[in-house]
Amino acid sequence: MTTAMETTEKLSDPSGRGFVDGYRITFPQRQHAYTEAEIAAVVDVMRNAEGQTQGPYLEKFEADFAEFTGANFAFGVSNCTNALKLAGIFSGVGPGDEVIVPGYTYCASAIPFGDLGADLVWADIHPETWTIDPDDIERKITPRTKAIVAVHLLGLPADMRRIMDIADRHGLKVIEDCAQALDCTIDGQHVGTFGDFGCFSFHAAKTMTTLGEGGMLTVKDADIAARVPGIRHNGLAAIPGPRERYWVPAMSNVDSFLDEQWPQNFCLGEAQCALGSEELKSIVPNNELLIEQDLKIRAALADTPEITFPQVVEGGRYVVHQYVMHFDGSAFGKDRNDLLDLLTAKYGIRSIVQYYPLYRFPLFQKMGYGEADTPFLEKWWDDSFSFPWWCGITDEEIEIMTSSLKAAIADLKAG
Ligand SMILES: Cc1ncc(COP(=O)(O)O)c(C=O)c1O
Repeated sequence: MTTAMETTEKLSDPSGRGFVDGYRITFPQRQHAYTEAEIAAVVDVMRNAEGQTQGPYLEKFEADFAEFTGANFAFGVSNCTNALKLAGIFSGVGPGDEVIVPGYTYCASAIPFGDLGADLVWADIHPETWTIDPDDIERKITPRTKAIVAVHLLGLPADMRRIMDIADRHGLKVIEDCAQALDCTIDGQHVGTFGDFGCFSFHAAKTMTTLGEGGMLTVKDADIAARVPGIRHNGLAAIPGPRERYWVPAMSNVDSFLDEQWPQNFCLGEAQCALGSEELKSIVPNNELLIEQDLKIRAALADTPEITFPQVVEGGRYVVHQYVMHFDGSAFGKDRNDLLDLLTAKYGIRSIVQYYPLYRFPLFQKMGYGEADTPFLEKWWDDSFSFPWWCGITDEEIEIMTSSLKAAIADLKAG
């Protein structure tokens, strides 16, 4: 029988990550603690900002973000899902269009496009980079294809050179899902600036978070950029031209910035923007720390051929947003589930498995997207798993995790 406590835990933890006791190592509730400067930035807005939204802190955060990434234009939005929705709207995605999305990603990479009425077409991932496979994109293009969603999942840059080449040849829009990849680059160019749009997340699970929710849309084209604020904020705009009385004909205007498109409200508050500007200052050192810890894990497991890691595209700088690995125990007849049974129960490491292929979820199946031609993902995913991972993970925790993993594999080999 399920106790009330267990029910509460289940309801309050739809991520399946937290609220779990009894492990030696588990995901913490918070990805990282705010610094005093970050806390002061929020308090400053609470004390001093004249308006709570759509003001100078938003302007500054957008300018800081554009400078950091090198984007032509940047727009603060309520979350990355809505950045993706805006990218879909401005790409003209609608009923009858197909949008190519990797089968291996978080659900929000696909939902906004389904919501706009497009048909979702699942692409496979590349066996080495574990990001969307350019060859499979090309195979999946039809006369109805409108856009490609290039997801830089886990902090790994997708192969943007090849994706842009394919998109240019076929006249397709490219929407980069950079939710997990702030500070990833290819040949020094930031992800989110290759395609038509880049969509970033400041959700609580990300390396920087604007109080739990938040996002940024980067835009290449100036004409589109001019229309984003209106679509982002209920069509609100100034009434054009000089006016004798500021209240005639109305205080402000409401207009459509795209034909036959209703606007949305995807705004980001001032306190979140002030925090975002402050956090941007430490995104690089925080990522450097995570990369350092990643290299320690890779070194510790270099003599463990059963475990493989993703490879980064040539010229790419990765960040380590999630710690996914692949286990091959076929030589001794064992699989990922056998390994996780031991890691969790015997060694106390709350490993998880991440990013269930989207077409296996009831949502996508009910919506008619339960079929996929993604042979590599189908074979690979069932033996993938993740270590607990967060900004601030210590050497001691890494030692415990890697030695436990080796010991668990030795147990499995010994039968
Ligand atoms: C790959 C990916 N895309 C999109 C999103 C959606 O981001 P948000 O929660 O800011 O809407 C996430 C969030 O976890 C994500 O990981």
